[in-house]
Amino acid sequence: MPTGSSEFDRVLGGGLVAGSVTLIGGDPGIGKSTLLLQAAAALARSASVLYATGEESLRQVGLRARRLGLDDAPLGLLAETDVETVIAAAQGREARVLVVDSIQTMGTAAVESSPGSVSQLRESAARFVHFAKQSGTAVFLIGHVTKEGVIAGPRVLEHLVDTVLYFESDAGSRFRVVRAVKNRFGAANEIGVFAMEEGGLREVKNPSAIFLSRHPAPVAGSIVTVAREGTRPLLVEVQALVDEARAQNTRRVAVGFEGNRLALLLAVLHRHGGVALSAYDVFINVVGGVHLGETAADLPAVLAAVSSLDDRPLAQDLVSFGELGLAGEVRPVPFGEERLREAAKHGFKRAIVPRANTPRKAIEGLEVIGVERLSEALEALRAVSGSSRKSDA
Ligand code: TYD
Ligand code: MG
Repeated sequence: MPTGSSEFDRVLGGGLVAGSVTLIGGDPGIGKSTLLLQAAAALARSASVLYATGEESLRQVGLRARRLGLDDAPLGLLAETDVETVIAAAQGREARVLVVDSIQTMGTAAVESSPGSVSQLRESAARFVHFAKQSGTAVFLIGHVTKEGVIAGPRVLEHLVDTVLYFESDAGSRFRVVRAVKNRFGAANEIGVFAMEEGGLREVKNPSAIFLSRHPAPVAGSIVTVAREGTRPLLVEVQALVDEARAQNTRRVAVGFEGNRLALLLAVLHRHGGVALSAYDVFINVVGGVHLGETAADLPAVLAAVSSLDDRPLAQDLVSFGELGLAGEVRPVPFGEERLREAAKHGFKRAIVPRANTPRKAIEGLEVIGVERLSEALEALRAVSGSSRKSDA
Protein backbone atom coordinates (compact mmCIF):
# COMPACT_ATOMS: atom_id res chain seq x y z
CA MET A 1 0.00 0.00 0.00
CA PRO A 2 1.42 3.39 -0.91
CA THR A 3 1.52 5.81 2.04
CA GLY A 4 1.06 8.97 0.00
CA SER A 5 4.73 9.87 0.42
CA SER A 6 7.35 8.42 -1.89
CA GLU A 7 10.08 9.11 0.69
CA PHE A 8 8.19 7.17 3.34
CA ASP A 9 7.41 4.37 0.85
CA ARG A 10 11.09 4.16 0.04
CA VAL A 11 12.22 3.52 3.63
CA LEU A 12 9.42 1.03 4.11
CA GLY A 13 10.81 -0.91 1.14
CA GLY A 14 8.39 0.28 -1.56
CA GLY A 15 5.21 0.86 0.45
CA LEU A 16 3.39 -0.60 3.41
CA VAL A 17 3.10 -4.41 3.64
CA ALA A 18 -0.10 -6.01 4.99
CA GLY A 19 0.42 -7.72 8.35
CA SER A 20 3.77 -6.00 8.88
CA VAL A 21 4.86 -4.33 12.11
CA THR A 22 6.95 -1.18 11.83
CA LEU A 23 8.63 0.42 14.81
CA ILE A 24 9.35 4.14 14.44
CA GLY A 25 11.70 5.58 17.02
CA GLY A 26 13.00 9.06 17.61
CA ASP A 27 13.46 11.83 20.13
CA PRO A 28 10.36 13.54 21.49
CA GLY A 29 9.25 16.40 19.24
CA ILE A 30 11.15 15.21 16.16
CA GLY A 31 8.01 14.57 14.09
CA LYS A 32 6.88 10.95 14.61
CA SER A 33 3.23 11.81 15.28
CA THR A 34 3.21 14.28 12.40
CA LEU A 35 4.58 11.77 9.88
CA LEU A 36 2.25 8.99 10.99
CA LEU A 37 -0.82 11.21 11.05
CA GLN A 38 -0.02 12.35 7.52
CA ALA A 39 0.53 8.76 6.35
CA ALA A 40 -2.57 7.49 8.19
CA ALA A 41 -4.72 10.18 6.58
CA ALA A 42 -3.39 9.33 3.11
CA LEU A 43 -3.90 5.59 3.65
CA ALA A 44 -7.43 6.22 4.99
CA ARG A 45 -8.54 7.40 1.56
CA SER A 46 -8.39 3.83 0.28
CA ALA A 47 -8.46 1.61 3.39
CA SER A 48 -9.81 1.51 6.93
CA VAL A 49 -7.25 3.11 9.24
CA LEU A 50 -7.26 3.53 13.03
CA TYR A 51 -4.94 5.97 14.81
CA ALA A 52 -4.77 5.17 18.53
CA THR A 53 -3.19 7.79 20.75
CA GLY A 54 -2.21 7.41 24.36
CA GLU A 55 -0.09 10.54 24.24
CA GLU A 56 -2.60 13.21 23.37
CA SER A 57 -6.32 13.93 23.65
CA LEU A 58 -8.62 13.56 20.64
CA ARG A 59 -8.87 17.34 20.62
CA GLN A 60 -5.09 17.73 20.34
CA VAL A 61 -4.87 15.22 17.52
CA GLY A 62 -7.83 16.93 15.86
CA LEU A 63 -6.07 20.29 16.07
CA ARG A 64 -2.93 18.84 14.55
CA ALA A 65 -4.99 17.28 11.75
CA ARG A 66 -6.55 20.67 11.06
CA ARG A 67 -3.13 22.32 10.99
CA LEU A 68 -1.98 19.71 8.51
CA GLY A 69 -5.09 20.24 6.39
CA LEU A 70 -6.19 16.66 6.99
CA ASP A 71 -9.35 17.19 8.99
CA ASP A 72 -11.53 15.80 6.18
CA ALA A 73 -9.66 12.46 6.04
CA PRO A 74 -11.88 9.45 6.86
CA LEU A 75 -9.56 8.37 9.65
CA GLY A 76 -10.59 6.61 12.85
CA LEU A 77 -9.16 8.25 16.01
CA LEU A 78 -9.10 6.67 19.43
CA ALA A 79 -7.63 8.03 22.68
CA GLU A 80 -6.82 4.89 24.63
CA THR A 81 -3.97 3.25 26.50
CA ASP A 82 -5.32 -0.27 26.98
CA VAL A 83 -3.90 -2.69 24.42
CA GLU A 84 -6.93 -4.99 24.30
CA THR A 85 -9.32 -2.06 23.83
CA VAL A 86 -7.20 -0.69 20.95
CA ILE A 87 -7.07 -4.10 19.27
CA ALA A 88 -10.82 -4.62 19.72
CA ALA A 89 -11.47 -1.20 18.13
CA ALA A 90 -9.21 -2.07 15.20
CA GLN A 91 -11.04 -5.38 14.75
CA GLY A 92 -14.39 -3.61 15.00
CA ARG A 93 -13.47 -1.27 12.13
CA GLU A 94 -11.74 -4.04 10.17
CA ALA A 95 -8.74 -1.73 10.09
CA ARG A 96 -6.10 -2.50 7.46
CA VAL A 97 -3.71 -0.10 9.17
CA LEU A 98 -3.29 0.63 12.89
CA VAL A 99 -1.05 3.37 14.29
CA VAL A 100 -0.11 3.11 17.96
CA ASP A 101 1.15 6.44 19.36
CA SER A 102 3.10 5.61 21.43
CA ILE A 103 3.93 2.05 22.49
CA GLN A 104 5.27 3.40 25.79
CA THR A 105 1.84 4.70 26.78
CA MET A 106 0.15 1.36 26.14
CA GLY A 107 -0.39 -1.27 28.78
CA THR A 108 -2.13 -4.56 29.28
CA ALA A 109 -3.79 -5.82 32.46
CA ALA A 110 -2.03 -9.15 31.84
CA VAL A 111 1.18 -7.63 33.15
CA GLU A 112 1.31 -6.24 36.67
CA SER A 113 4.03 -3.64 36.29
CA SER A 114 3.29 -0.04 35.38
CA PRO A 115 3.02 1.33 31.83
CA GLY A 116 6.42 2.28 30.47
CA SER A 117 8.25 -0.57 32.20
CA VAL A 118 10.23 -3.00 30.07
CA SER A 119 7.85 -5.89 30.76
CA GLN A 120 4.78 -3.79 29.84
CA LEU A 121 6.52 -2.54 26.73
CA ARG A 122 7.48 -6.05 25.60
CA GLU A 123 4.10 -7.60 26.33
CA SER A 124 2.12 -4.74 24.75
CA ALA A 125 4.28 -4.87 21.62
CA ALA A 126 4.01 -8.67 21.46
CA ARG A 127 0.21 -8.39 21.52
CA PHE A 128 0.19 -5.88 18.67
CA VAL A 129 2.57 -8.10 16.70
CA HIS A 130 0.31 -11.10 17.26
CA PHE A 131 -2.70 -9.04 16.14
CA ALA A 132 -0.89 -7.89 12.98
CA LYS A 133 0.12 -11.40 11.99
CA GLN A 134 -3.26 -12.97 12.66
CA SER A 135 -5.38 -10.22 11.05
CA GLY A 136 -3.12 -8.99 8.25
CA THR A 137 -3.39 -5.44 9.62
CA ALA A 138 -0.26 -3.33 9.12
CA VAL A 139 0.74 -1.92 12.50
CA PHE A 140 2.96 1.09 13.26
CA LEU A 141 4.39 1.33 16.74
CA ILE A 142 5.74 4.76 17.64
CA GLY A 143 8.47 4.71 20.30
CA HIS A 144 10.21 7.54 22.06
CA VAL A 145 13.92 7.30 22.41
CA THR A 146 14.41 8.20 26.04
CA LYS A 147 17.24 8.48 28.48
CA GLU A 148 18.00 4.97 29.59
CA GLY A 149 16.59 3.94 32.91
CA VAL A 150 13.66 6.33 33.01
CA ILE A 151 11.37 4.68 30.50
CA ALA A 152 12.31 1.67 28.40
CA GLY A 153 13.21 2.70 24.88
CA PRO A 154 12.26 1.17 21.52
CA ARG A 155 15.57 -0.72 21.26
CA VAL A 156 14.23 -3.60 23.34
CA LEU A 157 11.51 -4.13 20.70
CA GLU A 158 13.69 -4.22 17.59
CA HIS A 159 13.83 -8.01 17.38
CA LEU A 160 10.02 -8.32 17.66
CA VAL A 161 9.13 -6.29 14.59
CA ASP A 162 9.67 -6.51 10.81
CA THR A 163 10.94 -3.02 10.22
CA VAL A 164 12.73 -0.53 12.44
CA LEU A 165 12.87 3.11 11.41
CA TYR A 166 14.62 5.88 13.28
CA PHE A 167 14.24 9.60 12.93
CA GLU A 168 17.52 11.49 12.79
CA SER A 169 18.10 15.21 12.75
CA ASP A 170 20.87 17.68 13.24
CA ALA A 171 20.16 19.94 16.18
CA GLY A 172 18.33 23.01 15.00
CA SER A 173 17.89 21.74 11.47
CA ARG A 174 14.44 21.51 9.90
CA PHE A 175 15.49 18.47 7.92
CA ARG A 176 14.55 15.02 9.15
CA VAL A 177 16.09 11.78 7.98
CA VAL A 178 14.09 8.60 8.52
CA ARG A 179 16.45 5.64 8.33
CA ALA A 180 15.57 1.95 8.06
CA VAL A 181 17.98 0.22 10.43
CA LYS A 182 16.20 -3.10 9.89
CA ASN A 183 13.78 -4.04 7.15
CA ARG A 184 12.45 -7.45 6.26
CA PHE A 185 10.95 -5.98 3.08
CA GLY A 186 13.62 -3.63 1.79
CA ALA A 187 17.17 -2.37 2.02
CA ALA A 188 18.56 -1.65 5.44
CA ASN A 189 20.10 1.82 5.70
CA GLU A 190 17.60 3.20 3.22
CA ILE A 191 16.79 6.79 4.06
CA GLY A 192 13.85 9.08 3.46
CA VAL A 193 14.43 12.80 3.78
CA PHE A 194 11.83 15.31 4.93
CA ALA A 195 11.66 18.97 5.86
CA MET A 196 9.52 20.07 8.83
CA GLU A 197 7.38 22.98 7.74
CA GLU A 198 4.29 24.87 8.81
CA GLY A 199 2.05 22.37 7.07
CA GLY A 200 3.86 19.29 8.37
CA LEU A 201 6.58 17.10 6.91
CA ARG A 202 7.30 17.70 3.26
CA GLU A 203 9.37 15.21 1.33
CA VAL A 204 12.75 16.24 -0.02
CA LYS A 205 13.06 14.45 -3.33
CA ASN A 206 16.57 15.56 -4.09
CA PRO A 207 18.35 15.22 -0.76
CA SER A 208 21.91 15.50 -2.09
CA ALA A 209 21.76 19.25 -2.13
CA ILE A 210 20.97 19.66 1.57
CA PHE A 211 24.09 17.86 2.77
CA LEU A 212 26.40 20.16 0.88
CA SER A 213 27.42 23.28 2.68
CA ARG A 214 28.18 25.81 0.00
CA HIS A 215 31.24 27.83 0.81
CA PRO A 216 31.32 31.21 -0.91
CA ALA A 217 34.99 30.65 -1.75
CA PRO A 218 37.02 27.42 -1.89
CA VAL A 219 38.37 26.39 1.52
CA ALA A 220 41.21 24.05 2.33
CA GLY A 221 40.36 20.69 3.84
CA SER A 222 36.95 20.29 2.26
CA ILE A 223 35.91 17.85 -0.44
CA VAL A 224 32.64 16.40 -1.67
CA THR A 225 32.14 12.67 -1.94
CA VAL A 226 29.29 10.56 -3.29
CA ALA A 227 28.10 8.19 -0.59
CA ARG A 228 25.45 5.55 -0.94
CA GLU A 229 22.73 5.46 1.65
CA GLY A 230 20.49 2.45 1.14
CA THR A 231 19.82 2.41 -2.60
CA ARG A 232 20.56 6.01 -3.38
CA PRO A 233 23.65 8.09 -4.05
CA LEU A 234 24.10 11.11 -1.84
CA LEU A 235 26.55 13.98 -2.15
CA VAL A 236 28.17 14.74 1.18
CA GLU A 237 30.94 17.09 2.21
CA VAL A 238 33.91 15.64 4.08
CA GLN A 239 36.08 18.08 6.03
CA ALA A 240 39.53 17.62 7.51
CA LEU A 241 41.54 19.78 9.81
CA VAL A 242 45.23 19.02 10.18
CA ASP A 243 46.87 21.07 12.88
CA GLU A 244 50.27 21.02 14.57
CA ALA A 245 49.96 18.94 17.71
CA ARG A 246 50.25 20.90 20.92
CA ALA A 247 50.45 17.93 23.24
CA GLN A 248 52.71 14.86 23.38
CA ASN A 249 49.98 12.61 22.11
CA THR A 250 48.55 13.57 18.76
CA ARG A 251 44.79 13.46 18.39
CA ARG A 252 42.83 11.62 15.71
CA VAL A 253 39.17 12.49 15.93
CA ALA A 254 36.53 11.39 13.44
CA VAL A 255 32.91 12.49 13.46
CA GLY A 256 30.63 10.62 11.05
CA PHE A 257 33.57 8.48 10.02
CA GLU A 258 35.21 5.36 11.47
CA GLY A 259 37.94 6.33 13.93
CA ASN A 260 39.99 3.16 13.43
CA ARG A 261 39.75 3.57 9.70
CA LEU A 262 41.22 7.07 10.01
CA ALA A 263 44.31 5.75 11.82
CA LEU A 264 44.77 3.14 9.10
CA LEU A 265 44.39 5.69 6.31
CA LEU A 266 46.98 7.99 7.87
CA ALA A 267 49.45 5.08 7.96
CA VAL A 268 48.78 4.39 4.27
CA LEU A 269 49.19 8.10 3.52
CA HIS A 270 52.58 8.04 5.23
CA ARG A 271 53.93 4.86 3.67
CA HIS A 272 52.51 5.22 0.16
CA GLY A 273 51.91 8.94 -0.21
CA GLY A 274 55.01 10.19 1.56
CA VAL A 275 52.93 12.48 3.77
CA ALA A 276 53.79 12.22 7.45
CA LEU A 277 51.22 13.48 9.93
CA SER A 278 52.77 12.09 13.08
CA ALA A 279 53.36 15.59 14.47
CA TYR A 280 49.82 16.73 13.69
CA ASP A 281 46.36 16.43 15.14
CA VAL A 282 43.90 15.19 12.51
CA PHE A 283 40.18 15.85 12.68
CA ILE A 284 37.68 14.49 10.15
CA ASN A 285 34.07 15.62 10.07
CA VAL A 286 31.23 14.59 7.79
CA VAL A 287 28.87 17.52 7.30
CA GLY A 288 25.16 17.36 8.09
CA GLY A 289 25.27 14.63 10.72
CA VAL A 290 25.68 11.93 8.06
CA HIS A 291 27.65 8.85 9.07
CA LEU A 292 29.79 7.37 6.32
CA GLY A 293 30.25 3.68 6.99
CA GLU A 294 31.55 2.87 3.52
CA THR A 295 35.16 2.44 2.48
CA ALA A 296 34.30 4.69 -0.49
CA ALA A 297 34.97 7.59 1.88
CA ASP A 298 38.68 6.59 2.25
CA LEU A 299 40.08 8.55 -0.67
CA PRO A 300 38.11 11.77 -0.05
CA ALA A 301 39.08 11.73 3.63
CA VAL A 302 42.77 11.43 2.75
CA LEU A 303 42.55 14.09 0.04
CA ALA A 304 40.80 16.45 2.46
CA ALA A 305 43.56 15.87 5.03
CA VAL A 306 46.29 16.63 2.46
CA SER A 307 44.42 19.75 1.36
CA SER A 308 44.25 20.93 4.96
CA LEU A 309 47.92 20.15 5.63
CA ASP A 310 49.00 22.08 2.53
CA ASP A 311 46.42 24.78 3.25
CA ARG A 312 45.51 24.37 -0.40
CA PRO A 313 41.80 24.61 -1.26
CA LEU A 314 40.46 21.96 -3.61
CA ALA A 315 38.52 22.96 -6.69
CA GLN A 316 34.86 23.37 -5.78
CA ASP A 317 33.70 21.36 -8.75
CA LEU A 318 35.70 18.30 -7.63
CA VAL A 319 34.29 15.09 -6.17
CA SER A 320 36.08 11.93 -5.10
CA PHE A 321 35.38 8.43 -3.82
CA GLY A 322 37.35 5.22 -3.58
CA GLU A 323 38.69 2.64 -1.17
CA LEU A 324 42.34 2.66 -0.11
CA GLY A 325 44.21 -0.61 0.36
CA LEU A 326 47.11 -1.13 2.73
CA ALA A 327 49.48 -1.38 -0.22
CA GLY A 328 48.52 2.11 -1.37
CA GLU A 329 46.24 0.83 -4.11
CA VAL A 330 42.98 2.60 -4.91
CA ARG A 331 40.23 0.00 -5.09
CA PRO A 332 36.92 0.29 -6.91
CA VAL A 333 33.66 0.69 -5.01
CA PRO A 334 30.16 -0.52 -5.95
CA PHE A 335 27.91 1.65 -8.15
CA GLY A 336 30.72 3.86 -9.41
CA GLU A 337 28.89 5.02 -12.51
CA GLU A 338 25.72 5.84 -10.57
CA ARG A 339 27.78 7.94 -8.14
CA LEU A 340 29.46 9.79 -11.00
CA ARG A 341 26.11 10.52 -12.64
CA GLU A 342 24.78 11.95 -9.39
CA ALA A 343 27.82 14.23 -9.17
CA ALA A 344 27.39 15.37 -12.79
CA LYS A 345 23.70 16.03 -12.14
CA HIS A 346 24.70 18.45 -9.39
CA GLY A 347 27.14 20.34 -11.54
CA PHE A 348 30.44 18.76 -10.51
CA LYS A 349 32.97 18.85 -13.31
CA ARG A 350 35.86 16.69 -12.13
CA ALA A 351 36.14 13.43 -10.25
CA ILE A 352 39.16 11.63 -8.80
CA VAL A 353 38.04 8.01 -8.53
CA PRO A 354 39.41 4.46 -8.76
CA ARG A 355 40.48 3.64 -12.32
CA ALA A 356 38.25 0.57 -12.29
CA ASN A 357 35.28 2.87 -11.67
CA THR A 358 35.84 5.01 -14.77
CA PRO A 359 32.75 4.64 -16.93
CA ARG A 360 33.02 3.01 -20.37
CA LYS A 361 31.02 5.78 -21.90
CA ALA A 362 31.91 9.37 -21.02
CA ILE A 363 29.52 11.27 -18.76
CA GLU A 364 28.64 14.64 -20.22
CA GLY A 365 30.21 17.57 -18.41
CA LEU A 366 32.31 15.42 -16.09
CA GLU A 367 36.04 14.83 -16.45
CA VAL A 368 36.78 11.54 -14.73
CA ILE A 369 40.35 11.10 -13.50
CA GLY A 370 40.88 7.40 -12.81
CA VAL A 371 43.73 6.47 -10.46
CA GLU A 372 45.22 3.16 -9.38
CA ARG A 373 47.60 4.28 -6.65
CA LEU A 374 47.38 6.81 -3.84
CA SER A 375 50.46 8.57 -5.26
CA GLU A 376 48.60 9.10 -8.55
CA ALA A 377 45.60 10.47 -6.67
CA LEU A 378 47.81 12.99 -4.85
CA GLU A 379 49.37 14.06 -8.15
CA ALA A 380 45.94 14.50 -9.69
CA LEU A 381 44.86 16.46 -6.64
CA ARG A 382 47.73 18.92 -6.92
CA ALA A 383 46.98 19.38 -10.60
CA VAL A 384 43.38 20.40 -9.97
CA SER A 385 43.64 22.33 -6.71
CA GLY A 386 44.33 25.98 -5.99
CA SER A 387 47.59 27.46 -4.79
CA SER A 388 48.83 26.86 -1.28
CA ARG A 389 48.91 29.73 1.13
CA LYS A 390 51.73 27.93 2.94
CA SER A 391 54.35 26.81 0.47
CA ASP A 392 53.66 29.33 -2.33
CA ALA A 393 53.70 32.32 -0.02
P1 TYD B 1 5.53 15.70 16.62
O1 TYD B 1 5.08 14.99 15.39
O2 TYD B 1 4.48 15.98 17.65
O3 TYD B 1 6.77 14.96 17.29
P2 TYD B 1 6.84 13.56 18.06
O4 TYD B 1 5.56 12.84 17.84
O5 TYD B 1 8.03 12.87 17.46
O6 TYD B 1 7.09 13.87 19.49
O7 TYD B 1 6.20 17.05 16.12
C1 TYD B 1 6.36 18.05 17.02
C2 TYD B 1 7.14 19.20 16.46
O8 TYD B 1 6.92 19.46 15.10
C3 TYD B 1 6.72 20.43 17.21
O9 TYD B 1 7.90 21.04 17.70
C4 TYD B 1 6.00 21.28 16.24
C5 TYD B 1 6.51 20.82 14.92
N1 TYD B 1 5.49 20.86 13.85
C6 TYD B 1 5.69 21.70 12.78
O10 TYD B 1 6.69 22.42 12.69
N2 TYD B 1 4.75 21.74 11.77
C7 TYD B 1 3.63 20.98 11.83
O11 TYD B 1 2.79 21.05 10.90
C8 TYD B 1 3.43 20.14 12.95
C9 TYD B 1 2.22 19.27 13.07
C10 TYD B 1 4.40 20.09 13.94
MG1 MG C 1 4.10 12.36 19.28
